[in-house]
Amino acid sequence: MKQVEKDESQKHRILILGASGYIGNAIYKELGPYFRTFGTYRTPNKDYDNNHQFFQYNVEEDDVYEILEACKPSIIISALRGDFNAQFIAHQHIEEYVIATNCKIIFLSSANVFDSYSKFPSYELDKTLSHSIYGHFKIKIENSLLRLAKQQVAILRVPMVFGLNSPRILEMKEAILETNAVEVFPNLIMNVTLDKKLTQQIHYIINRNKYGVFHLGSTDLVHHDEFVKDVLSQITEKKVVIKQVFTSNEDRYLAVLPKFNKLPKHLQVTSEMVLNALSK
Ligand SMILES: NC(=O)c1ccc[n+]([C@@H]2O[C@H](COP(=O)([O-])OP(=O)(O)OC[C@H]3O[C@@H](n4cnc5c(N)ncnc54)[C@H](OP(=O)(O)O)[C@@H]3O)[C@@H](O)[C@H]2O)c1
Repeated sequence: MKQVEKDESQKHRILILGASGYIGNAIYKELGPYFRTFGTYRTPNKDYDNNHQFFQYNVEEDDVYEILEACKPSIIISALRGDFNAQFIAHQHIEEYVIATNCKIIFLSSANVFDSYSKFPSYELDKTLSHSIYGHFKIKIENSLLRLAKQQVAILRVPMVFGLNSPRILEMKEAILETNAVEVFPNLIMNVTLDKKLTQQIHYIINRNKYGVFHLGSTDLVHHDEFVKDVLSQITEKKVVIKQVFTSNEDRYLAVLPKFNKLPKHLQVTSEMVLNALSK
């Protein structure tokens, strides 16, 4: 049995675009022990310069094809940020590679692909619609990827990600230290996720060869202001100044719930699990 598992895992060469980032790096740590894993970074860093698994890559200047040629991945995970036009072109080149090889692309999309709908949470088959530049950009890449052979594409729609050392939590800790206010959006109803769970979900999608559109938010919904207050009470005993930011007078949903492409129970996440993970 052990041998079979080993052979299965050795089958893949995985390239993580944005492996020096918050989510990309968490994915690298999760997959690294099991697969031949490569990653890209943009900001110069001695550790990465000396690591032959890492390639320096700037989406605005470099051709992703050269990196694809160099590491010949069987799975590409896109966890990039950077100029939207340049990212779109890079994903066009990735698509050409996906078509030319039997490679699979796993794209980190966002709940923002639904940010024009405010009355309901969204499910996998709902039509995407966004009025933000970010959401619009994610939709453009999603739509292009959805034209590929369906077994070769996984689109992961992800809500706000939290974790012990996530940028959002580090920002809150800094605000607490400097006695600055923490902003909350009282009318926003959303779901959330945990970095560790997200990387396990991706590991599962790879191992089980799953594809399609995944909604990877917590199974329950939270109000942004209440959730942030709960987070603050997990990470500090101090009284924190809260700044309420009203973007509309009515409640607004930004939530991606699974209905058709569900992961097994042990990979589902609740907002309570996210909160519990922050106090460790
Ligand atoms: N964080 C969330 O809550 C969240 C929620 C939904 C979806 N997402 C999606 O998940 C993906 C990763 O997000 P993240 O929060 O992990 O972002 P992040 O921490 O800012 O990481 C971004 C990664 O992209 C690289 N990068 C930035 N500009 C680049 C450029 N011009 N050329 C090449 N590489 C560049 C960074 O490299 P350096 O660090 O080396 O400069 C880093 O590796 C994004 O696509 C985001 O839309 C994130």
